[in-house]
Amino acid sequence: MNVLVTGGAGFIGSHLVEKLLAAGHRTIVVDNESSGLRQYVPADAIYYNLDICDERLRDVIKEEKPEIIVHLAAQSVVPVSVRDPALDAQINIQGLIGLLEAARQQQVRKVIYASTAAVYGEPASVPIVEEMAGHLLSPYAVSKYAGEGYLAAYHHLYGIAYTAFRFANVYGPRQLAKSDGGVVAIFTELIRYGKTLTINGDGEQTRDFIFVGDVTDAMIRAFDKADNQVLNLSTGLPTSINQLIDELEQVARTRVAREYGPPRPGDIRHSCLSNEKMKQQLAWEPRYTLRQGLAATWEGYELEKPPGEK
Ligand SMILES: NC(=O)c1ccc[n+]([C@@H]2O[C@H](COP(=O)([O-])OP(=O)(O)OC[C@H]3O[C@@H](n4cnc5c(N)ncnc54)[C@H](O)[C@@H]3O)[C@@H](O)[C@H]2O)c1
Repeated sequence: MNVLVTGGAGFIGSHLVEKLLAAGHRTIVVDNESSGLRQYVPADAIYYNLDICDERLRDVIKEEKPEIIVHLAAQSVVPVSVRDPALDAQINIQGLIGLLEAARQQQVRKVIYASTAAVYGEPASVPIVEEMAGHLLSPYAVSKYAGEGYLAAYHHLYGIAYTAFRFANVYGPRQLAKSDGGVVAIFTELIRYGKTLTINGDGEQTRDFIFVGDVTDAMIRAFDKADNQVLNLSTGLPTSINQLIDELEQVARTRVAREYGPPRPGDIRHSCLSNEKMKQQLAWEPRYTLRQGLAATWEGYELEKPPGEK
């Protein structure tokens, strides 16, 4: 099958591209390398160094005729969205509209979309179910939520199928420390350099950490399932920041120095996303335990040191 992955040189995208190629799909990547790296894309993928906002995206889609588009390219840094909401909207909304316009013209069958737990804001209770969305606390949350709306509208108007996944905190090798939900990447890097970990608040705040390999599996399963659905993509398990560090100590076989600072203003106390709908729609559930996922992340970090390092 022809599959186009926008953001395929990024953290989640590059893992997805590897899996697609291994499964024999003709895989096309569009990425402007704003946070991704060309070197993360296997040589047998077809590669376009292109901004999704560039009109030439239409030519690529016309030329390559993807049956499925997995749309991962985005402005995904919350503080950037606060500083420059227009830029955020340009990439996350205008960029998506351009992609959907090209998709309808070329009769793309389905678009898989990366949404986010940020659409829930500060949840009233956990686990969070899909109906609780709409508490939008940053321009990033607004633009991602708007994207879900555009997908529904394009399905209604033109019959393009979609699955929108609201990712919990995705972690794994190649994650950038600054991206949406990058705490595992930050801590992994600090531990590797023997530095003190600074925890915002008491460390008892919880998050739902899902390994990137599980995320890519779910996205591939959605190629022929869960049409026109919005699904949490999560483990459904809360892990506190203190527990996360305990686990990291185990996989790194070291003790780390911890320093507790003031809580970060606006930080959500508990975030854990129900995955009942996803399990039902995809007939699948995440496979990696936190320990297994962190071990794979630690090994991956050792193997693929960030660029410029010896
Ligand atoms: N990692 C998480 O925990 C998480 C959580 C929620 C949602 N998401 C979403 O998942 C998607 C992938 O995230 P990631 O963690 O792999 O981030 P990432 O930054 O590693 O990947 C994004 C990729 O998109 C590319 N890109 C950005 N803007 C582009 C543009 N205008 N044109 C072309 N390419 C562009 C970047 O170069 C990068 O390769 C994003 O849409 C993000 O919002 C991620």
